[in-house]
Amino acid sequence: MESRYDVDDAQYHSSLWKHINRWALKNNQTYPIYVLHESQKPVATFTDFSTDWESLLPAMDTCRGVKDQHEIGLIRQANEVTAFAHRTVFQRIKKMKNETEIEGTFLDACVSRGAKHQAYEIIAAAGENAAVLHYVKNDEPLTDRQMVCLDAGCEWDCYASDVTRSFPTSGRWPSIAARDIYKLVEEMQENCIKRVRKGVRYLDLHVLAHTIAIKGLLKLGILKGGTVEEIRKSGVSKVFFPHGLGHHVGLEVHDVAAKSIMALDGKDDDISVLIPGSSRLPCTLSAPPLEEGMVVTIEPGIYFSRYALDAVRATEDVSKFIDMDVAESYIPVGGVRIEDDILVTAKGYENLTTTPKGLDMLRIIRRCSQ
Ligand code: GLY
Ligand code: MN
Repeated sequence: MESRYDVDDAQYHSSLWKHINRWALKNNQTYPIYVLHESQKPVATFTDFSTDWESLLPAMDTCRGVKDQHEIGLIRQANEVTAFAHRTVFQRIKKMKNETEIEGTFLDACVSRGAKHQAYEIIAAAGENAAVLHYVKNDEPLTDRQMVCLDAGCEWDCYASDVTRSFPTSGRWPSIAARDIYKLVEEMQENCIKRVRKGVRYLDLHVLAHTIAIKGLLKLGILKGGTVEEIRKSGVSKVFFPHGLGHHVGLEVHDVAAKSIMALDGKDDDISVLIPGSSRLPCTLSAPPLEEGMVVTIEPGIYFSRYALDAVRATEDVSKFIDMDVAESYIPVGGVRIEDDILVTAKGYENLTTTPKGLDMLRIIRRCSQ
């Protein structure tokens, strides 16, 4: 039991009261009973228990932010099964005709390898659907779609994996535009991953990803009319990269920790590239540095959403930096996101995600017969 669940002891629920009473008689003068919510306060038969319902939740969140070896092992195993399932999709994608088959194949592969539950709803988005961030309808044809974005990860013993791959269904770049956007997101991801180490502020990696995106989009002519700095300050890159760089992964796919990794530092933070919501609550005044044992996703993306482009048209001081004709020509690419689960180690990082990406991924797709 200890090796399977990493617990010291387990008792039947029916004996809970006996244990609480015995413990309280001995210790409750000195220590309170910690509960998560006031409603869970135990009712004593002989005297009132001294209870604390404020300290346990932050203490548990702090523990959950830093994973121990047992937890890392489970996230690793979840990633192994997820990699098998993504590979299975790559091997069969040429034969598939609809997004439903991608979802079905992924699920089948996970369940048949013993992972009964997904960590979140599968996103199998072809073409323009990839620009819809939490697209889960997964029921449209693949015909004439340039790229597929598959964001899917299973759980293993309650621990999540969270992995996204974007790929052309033929294994060959369907257009120069698709290749250029993939390469740009790859550059954003590789540069952020290689900087992961303890002490680094995650928020700075988010800003770095935006800076790389802006440079790349300027080169492609999608952005124009300003320096990298001016464009970053305008916040226009959020039209193309409208979510946070990532989050903790653990018992929840978006796991908790003592403080949000996207929290602001206060005074001199550049908030132009922050997404309202991802940097808000839980609100702290100090952006926490990464710590050894944390597992975070690095998941940059570039998307071409006709709704986002239409919405920004009304804002002259932002839209003046976008060449709308060029940006609209990228709409068929949809969106590209690449996401891995990264463990912060003593010396730097370890990538726990073993799902192939880049050329390795394309080669698997190409090998598959029609
Ligand atoms: N992969 C789903 C998410 O991070 O929201
Ligand atoms: Mn994620």
